This record gives sequence, structure tokens and C-alpha cells, in this order.
Amino acid sequence: MKIRTSQSFTALPTSRVARIGAIHRGVLVAVALLGASALVGTVVARGTGQTQLPTTFADYVQPGTQPNPDSAVFTPIYSAQNCTFCHSDYGNEVAPYDSWVTSLMGQSARDPVWHAALTIANQDANVSGEFCIRCHAPAGWLGGRSTSGTLAELQGEDFDGINCHFCHRVVNPTIGTESAVGYPGDPVAPDVPIISALAKQGLVPNGAGNSRYVVDPADNRRGPFSDVPQNLHGGEVKLITSPYHRSSEFCGTCHDVSGPTYSKNKKGEYVLNALNAPHPTQDLSNMFPEQRTYSEWLNSSYVNGVQYADHRYGGNTVDGVVSSCQDCHMPKVIAGGCVFYEYGDPWFVRTDMPQHSFAGANTWVVQGIRNIVGAEEADALGMTQERIDMSAARTVQMLQNASDMTLTQKGNELKVRITNESGHKLPTGYPEGRRMWVNVKFTNAKGTVIAERGAYNSATAALTTVDTKVYQAKQGITSAISALTGLPAGPGFHLALANKVFFDNRIPARGFTNAAYSSIGAGPVGYTYADGQHWDDTLFPIPSGAASATVTLYFQTSTKEYMEFLRDANVTDTYGQTAYDAWVGAGKSAPVAMDAAVLNFASGNPADLNNDGSVDATDLSILLSNWGGSGIGDIDNSGTVEAGDLATLLGAWG
Ligand code: HEC
Ligand code: HEC
Ligand code: HEC
Ligand code: HEC
Ligand code: HEC
Repeated sequence: MKIRTSQSFTALPTSRVARIGAIHRGVLVAVALLGASALVGTVVARGTGQTQLPTTFADYVQPGTQPNPDSAVFTPIYSAQNCTFCHSDYGNEVAPYDSWVTSLMGQSARDPVWHAALTIANQDANVSGEFCIRCHAPAGWLGGRSTSGTLAELQGEDFDGINCHFCHRVVNPTIGTESAVGYPGDPVAPDVPIISALAKQGLVPNGAGNSRYVVDPADNRRGPFSDVPQNLHGGEVKLITSPYHRSSEFCGTCHDVSGPTYSKNKKGEYVLNALNAPHPTQDLSNMFPEQRTYSEWLNSSYVNGVQYADHRYGGNTVDGVVSSCQDCHMPKVIAGGCVFYEYGDPWFVRTDMPQHSFAGANTWVVQGIRNIVGAEEADALGMTQERIDMSAARTVQMLQNASDMTLTQKGNELKVRITNESGHKLPTGYPEGRRMWVNVKFTNAKGTVIAERGAYNSATAALTTVDTKVYQAKQGITSAISALTGLPAGPGFHLALANKVFFDNRIPARGFTNAAYSSIGAGPVGYTYADGQHWDDTLFPIPSGAASATVTLYFQTSTKEYMEFLRDANVTDTYGQTAYDAWVGAGKSAPVAMDAAVLNFASGNPADLNNDGSVDATDLSILLSNWGGSGIGDIDNSGTVEAGDLATLLGAWG
């Protein structure tokens, strides 16, 4: 894929290098490549008055394996193409490659929305993109190709995102320590020397999150099984049984994201650290909580397993019990672990082969990528239209599994209860642009829609939010950061600067408590949930003349407001426009119906226009105020509020 660059860097003054020199060789090399000018606050967005936060590479340093490892001991991360010969093109979407390649995990570095957001991050805070690349394109980052914080240095196969060889070389960093909740079990002996080597450098990760992965320098493949009949990986490659790969903690490495430039003060506010230095404590709970999916899960009932009698998750599980991220996002299928099972002995069919589908909530970006790179290149990568369609269907299924909805009539009101049945908040993860809302269509006895709440216009992608419940998180910047950058304080989409959660009414997971969620920076904001409440109710007054309501819970991956921001705030390159165009081309992230149901209202007197149980002066005034109109007051459904309706109302008086 074509990559553009818009920045170039010159050598860094030696004094700076010396100051940062304490950190690490890999980091140091990268810092040396940064431009001197990049270290002082440069004004971007000429005319808008925005000042770039003068962060350096040092501000984003995290423990774990560092980039640019010694090539004498570190085998580079191979492309996913090295695995296709045996791990692709068999079964029906069960071979690891075939489902992975059409997942957001496989496309995290080709994602046009990420490209667009990366540019904004670099505009807002100098080289902050380096932190993004660490998580979204780990092979490129490990190879030292992220020093500019942009896509410029990434090579072809780095765009394979979170790939096979990377994930299967990740080592359990908690080896040798006390078992934490979710700790997968027995230590794996070959990991010990790797962790010890990191310990000598003070780089053992303290807590899962922020992409603090530890990667085996040697080309060993860690996986769930201990009964592989033959190791066909050649040469020195060892197969290592890794219980860690079946643990949520493994996924938690990247599914808790914390802004490292901030520290929490005593008042609970996030304040900027001294710049040009790593976070003073490297304690994730002390950084700004951008995403908390893993912690939400860790503080829910799912840790101990939850049974679904309807077997909605988990694939080929016997009892319907699910617990880990893998249980729901890598459902177990009946299939071979490699293409050779088709030949029989010694190869066999497994009943717990994890499907690498990683279905979540992204309904359009994979299709958008195919549209951008073109059918030929997409087919060459294995992102065929057929596989994309199957992946999209899995995502819709996932969204439909995520919640249950119940409707009840409470006197004059319709109560819509949404229950979260996912393993974390609903929605969870990436806060910007994701939202879920309740749409209600009230219909009269003839079936005509007489009123709508939470209406969505699919042509303009505009949502009417004032008359319904929208579930979302809003992050943004405080006045302190506003003063430094010249950007307005308040909620917004400047991810790399975000230091305050302004609102969060996303529904907590089963088993949640306020104390536990606040301690991980994931408590509700501007909203309340009682401990254990993993559902939410919305009351809608029933308009007069309504005989029934059709209620739909919708999810949207990327809102118009977010996509317009990515396009308009970009003063550096064309990625914002590309992402916007891809969004338009893929149908503006059409909302997906997660639940839908109809409730017929208990029939009252049709003349009781406000449904309060009696026909009285209020009803008369409603009727008179709508005289000559249609809808409310048109008791006989003639199309006009007229004398006949008045007569009926007066006849029913009392
Ligand atoms: C020449 C064929 C071949 C190639 C190429 C290949 N594998 Fe495998 N791999 C296998 C076979 C065979 C198995 C065992 C399957 C089984 O037992 O069900 C396997 C199993 C695995 C396992 C499971 C190990 C366990 O203990 O759970 C992992 C992980 C793995 N391969 C990773 C990779 C990765 C990553 C690549 C590419 C960098 C790759 N393989 C390339 C043949 C291959
Ligand atoms: C190296 C970091 C990393 C690791 C490890 C990781 N993820 Fe992800 N994951 C990501 C990134 C980055 C994205 C978002 C990519 C994007 O949207 O462009 C993502 C996206 C996802 C999504 C969202 C897909 C969608 O359609 O919305 C799911 C689900 C997911 N990952 C599950 C998992 C599970 C399960 C594991 C553990 C087996 C895991 N991830 C491990 C980084 C990681
Ligand atoms: C009980 C099943 C279940 C478990 C366990 C579970 N998830 Fe999910 N996950 C879902 C469902 C359903 C969705 C789709 C609804 C949504 O977006 O929240 C989802 C969505 C996601 C998304 C996309 C969110 C978005 O809106 O963009 C990510 C990322 C994700 N999960 C990661 C994880 C990780 C990491 C874990 C483990 C720490 C995990 N999930 C555990 C069911 C589960
Ligand atoms: C996000 C990290 C991640 C990525 C990327 C990933 N895997 Fe896996 N893989 C896992 C985990 C976790 C398991 C075990 C899950 C379980 O058993 O619940 C697994 C299991 C496997 C297994 C053993 C099960 C079997 O099939 O025999 C093989 C083989 C495998 N992966 C190959 C691959 C290949 C090939 C790719 C690339 C196309 C790939 N993986 C990409 C995390 C990953
Ligand atoms: C520690 C890992 C990690 C880091 C660091 C990280 N991200 Fe992500 N990012 C994720 C995960 C995980 C998701 C997917 C969550 C989901 O789908 O809800 C994600 C999703 C996204 C998305 C949504 C993509 C889409 O298609 O909707 C964008 C945009 C994004 N990240 C931008 C960034 C930027 C910009 C940075 C750097 C400032 C960054 N990320 C740093 C893990 C990370």
C-alpha cells in the first residue's frame, strides 16, 4: 500500500540525547532520529492557533520488549504470509489465516480511521504516534520503524497489523510472581530467562495494558496445545505450550489503553507530567483511562464464568459457560489446526480449535480497506469479498448477542430495558465515535407511524439525540490543556491530549460495582448505575393515539461527527479525507439493529388522549389545540381533527 510522509527529521542536539540516554538503547536510537525542532512546541494548524504539545519519544516509553533489539539474538517478526502454506485455505472460515485476515486485529495497521487519527495525534502531541504504532502495528514498532511516529517508515508486511508470528511469540510477563486474578496457571519454563533478562534492565511490565508486551527473542511458537503430533515449523523453532494464550490477561496487554503523559493528582484530575521523560511511576491506574475493556472484564462476573443456556457464545462449548475474551472472541470450532488434518493420522480434527475471528463491533472498516486497496490487492492478501461478508455477518451476530431488550408499559409510559450481555461495558473499547441508542416508532391502530424517537437519517447520517437515550463515552481536555494548546476545553476527539472523561453512560458488565469500576477509572460519569446493575431503563411518554411501539436498539461504529472531525482537523496529509471517503463509500457506517421488538399497548379509551386514565379537560385542550390538524386528537382516524372527534370526546367525558 502507498505511504505518504510529510515530515523529515534532522539530528538531535547531543545534550538531549545524554539526558534521555538513561532509558534504553533502542529508545535512544529512535530519539536521536527526532528533529530538534520537534522538541519545542511547534505551532500546527496555522490560522487556528493550536500549539503542539512538545512531547518526545521519551514520554511514551513503556516497559516490555523495546524496539530495535539486537539482531544477533532477535529473530525479526515474520509476515503472516509465512504461515499461509499450512494455516490457511481450509474448512469454511476455520483456518486461522482466513478469519484473522478479515478481522480488525489483522487490519489494525491498514485501518484508514487509524491512519487519520494517527495524523491528528502527531499534530496534537509531537511523536505521540509512536505510542499508537506500538499497539496497532507491533511488527513495525519492534523493528524500530516508528521513530517519526508516522506511517512513513513502516514496510509492506508491517501493515499486517497484529499478526500471527507476533502473537505467538508473546511471553507471559507475570511469570514468577504471585498469581493475579485471571493468571492462567503453571509457569512455562522457557519464559524465565527472557523475563530475567528484562528484569536486569528494569523493563518487566507492571500490569497488563499499553502494549507492554514481552516477545521471545527466538523464533518459538507459543500456542494452547500440548499434543501437536509433529513440529513442522523447521529449523530451531520450538513449539511451547502456553496457558497464557488462553487467558484474558494476554488480550489485556493491548485492551487497556492509558494516556502515559498524565498522572492522577489527589483530586482525581489528570495533570501533565514533566515532559521529555517516561511516566514517573509507569503505574497504569495512575494514567488517563482511554480504554478499559480488560479491566471492565476483570471486575465483572465473567472472570468466574457465566452460563448462557442459549449457547450464544463460545462455539463448540459443551455447557455454554464462557469466561475469557477468547471464549467469546475466538469461539471454539471443530477443525484441524493445520491443513494436514485432511490427510488423517497423525493429524487429527480438534474440537476446540479457536477461530481467529476476533469479531467485535466494527461493521465497515474491513470493507472500506478492500475498497481502498482495490479488489486485486485485497484478493492477493486473502481479503476476498466472500470472507469479508462472512466476517461482517459474525460482527452483526456479535452485536445481536451483546444485549437483550425488554419492553413494558408503565401507565402512560413505555419502559425500554437494555441488559448488557457482553463481557465488559456495552459498548466498550474505543470511545470516539462509537454509540448505541434506542429508536422508538409509535404507531396508531392502523399501523401508521405517528411519532418517532431517536430518528436516524441514513442519507445524512444525522441522529436526533434530544428525545432518546444515547449510550456513549465522551472524553476531552480540561482548561489546563486548553491553555497549553489553544484548543477549546471540553469533550472532543483529540485522543492524544484527552485528560478528562466528561460523560460515560455505557452499561457496566454483569457483577460490576461502583467501587471497583472507579478504582480502574471506568466508573459511570454524569450517570448512575447501582452496584450489580448491568442494565439500563429509559421511559418514553406514550403519545395519544399510539396503539403500539416498535423499539430498536442500534449500534453505530463511526459517527458522522467523528469522521468529519478526522477530515477537517487534518492540516498535514490526506489521510483524513481518505478515511472520510471510505466511510461514505461503505455506507456511512450504517447502524446495526442489536435488538428489535414490538409492544402493543393495553387498550384504553381512544378519547383519553394523554392516556392518564380519564377523559377530561386536558384531553379537550389537546384536541382543541390540534383542531384542523392530523395525528393527536384524530380519534376516528379520519385524517383531520374535527367535529366528529369532539363529539366522541365529549361523549366519553369522565
Ligand atoms: C509447514 C507447515 C506449517 C507452517 C508454514 C506453519 N505451521 Fe504452525 N503448525 C503446523 C502444524 C502441522 C501444526 C499442528 C496442528 C495441530 O496439531 O492441530 C501447527 C501448529 C501451530 C501452533 C500451535 C502450537 C500449539 O502448541 O498450540 C502455532 C501457534 C503455530 N502453528 C504458529 C505458526 C505460525 C505463527 C506460523 C507462521 C509464522 C506457522 N505456524 C507456520 C504447521 C505449520
Ligand atoms: C498487540 C496488541 C493487541 C493484542 C495483544 C490484542 N489486541 Fe485486539 N485489538 C488491538 C487493536 C489495535 C485493535 C483495533 C484495530 C482497529 O480497529 O484498527 C484491536 C481490536 C480488537 C477487537 C475489535 C474488533 C471489532 O470489530 O470491533 C476485538 C474483538 C479484539 N481486538 C479482541 C482481542 C482478543 C480476544 C485478544 C486476545 C486473544 C486481543 N484482541 C489481543 C490490539 C491488540
Ligand atoms: C461474554 C462474551 C464476551 C467476553 C467474555 C468478552 N467480550 Fe468483547 N465483546 C462481546 C460482544 C457481544 C461485543 C459486541 C458489543 C460491544 O461492542 O460491546 C464485544 C465487543 C468487543 C470489542 C469492540 C468494542 C467496540 O464497541 O468497539 C472489543 C475491543 C472487545 N470486545 C474486546 C474484548 C476483550 C479484550 C475481552 C477480554 C478482556 C472481551 N472482549 C471479553 C462479548 C464478549
Ligand atoms: C491476537 C493474537 C493472535 C493472532 C494475531 C493470531 N493468533 Fe493464533 N492464537 C492466538 C490465541 C490466543 C490462541 C489460543 C486461543 C485459545 O485456545 O483459546 C491461538 C491459537 C492458534 C493455533 C492453535 C490452534 C490450532 O489451530 O491448532 C494456531 C495454529 C494459530 N493460533 C495460528 C495462527 C496463525 C497462523 C495466525 C495468523 C494468520 C494467528 N494464529 C494469529 C492468538 C493469536
Ligand atoms: C495499548 C494499545 C493501543 C494504543 C497504544 C493505541 N490504541 Fe488505538 N485501539 C486499540 C484497541 C484495542 C482498539 C480497538 C477497540 C475497539 O474496537 O473498541 C483501538 C482502536 C482505535 C481506533 C478505532 C479504529 C476504528 O476503525 O474505528 C482508532 C482510530 C485508534 N485506535 C487510534 C489510536 C491512536 C491515534 C493512538 C495513539 C494516540 C492509539 N490508537 C493508540 C489499542 C491501542
